Amino acid sequence: MRELEERGVSSPQIPFYPPKPPFITPDPLLPPPNPLSSPQIPFNSPQTPFPRPKSPFTPQQCPAVTARPRWAPCPSRAPLYSVHVLRVGYNRPNPDGSCLADGSVTLLLGGPLTVLVDTGGPWLRPLLPGLLAAHGTAPRDVTHVVVTHGHSDHAGNLNAFPEATLLVGFDLSRGRGLYLPHGLARGAPLQLTPGTCAWSPTPGHTRAHVSLVVEGTSAGTVAVAGDAFEHGEDEGEWEALSEEPDVQRKSREELAAVADVIVPGHGEPFRVVRGVGAERAAGGGGGGGGGGQVEV
Ligand SMILES: [Fe+2]
Repeated sequence: MRELEERGVSSPQIPFYPPKPPFITPDPLLPPPNPLSSPQIPFNSPQTPFPRPKSPFTPQQCPAVTARPRWAPCPSRAPLYSVHVLRVGYNRPNPDGSCLADGSVTLLLGGPLTVLVDTGGPWLRPLLPGLLAAHGTAPRDVTHVVVTHGHSDHAGNLNAFPEATLLVGFDLSRGRGLYLPHGLARGAPLQLTPGTCAWSPTPGHTRAHVSLVVEGTSAGTVAVAGDAFEHGEDEGEWEALSEEPDVQRKSREELAAVADVIVPGHGEPFRVVRGVGAERAAGGGGGGGGGGQVEV
């Protein structure tokens, strides 16, 4: 979060570690954690001013107070994964009622696995190799692809990763169509790297919507949230796009309760600030979807 602090958008850092239940038993079909992890990649995003948005939460609505997170604390506070938003998603309405949209594309590096969260729409395919190459990786290096939900602006490029383990909504598969059991539909997170990285069900925008929660980054806990959050100021917008608004509201509260930073589906990453007013402060950069790069 050094990047955000240098931009003057940081807020009082009140430690907040809500009680969390133990992690579920690791899925035996997922690869074991690699004890040899890479160091955290340093921040290098451009240092641009960033506006501070109005808080969508009132103190009474503060999810940090009301929600019950489902994730366990990271056993080690040493940074492991780093989270890189390769492309900031966007959603721009047109006067005729149509809209121009694409989803955020996010990469996890530095840990035992290389994880891509959402792939953008099929129109992004020609740009994907370059976006990955900018971080020293290629499509064949991606071990896991998480598609938060099945909308075309998030799931458009699965074919670029035929060797990766795929989680599309609640469908987990690997290889040539081997579908694996899990408990996401019952509300149970699925560990990717024990103690640091988990897929978690966050239904509402769609019934089978998942988010990736990464603990122990230099920015704290990062939730790559797909369309559970459209963007950092989406109050009054997200419900119209939701299949089940009441369910999604609960998912949003849970994510906001555990995350220090949220990467939304159609906007720049923002930091969850817990303090007076329980307000949220935006962070990141990258130009709102024009192919910019944000690292948190
Ligand atoms: Fe969506």
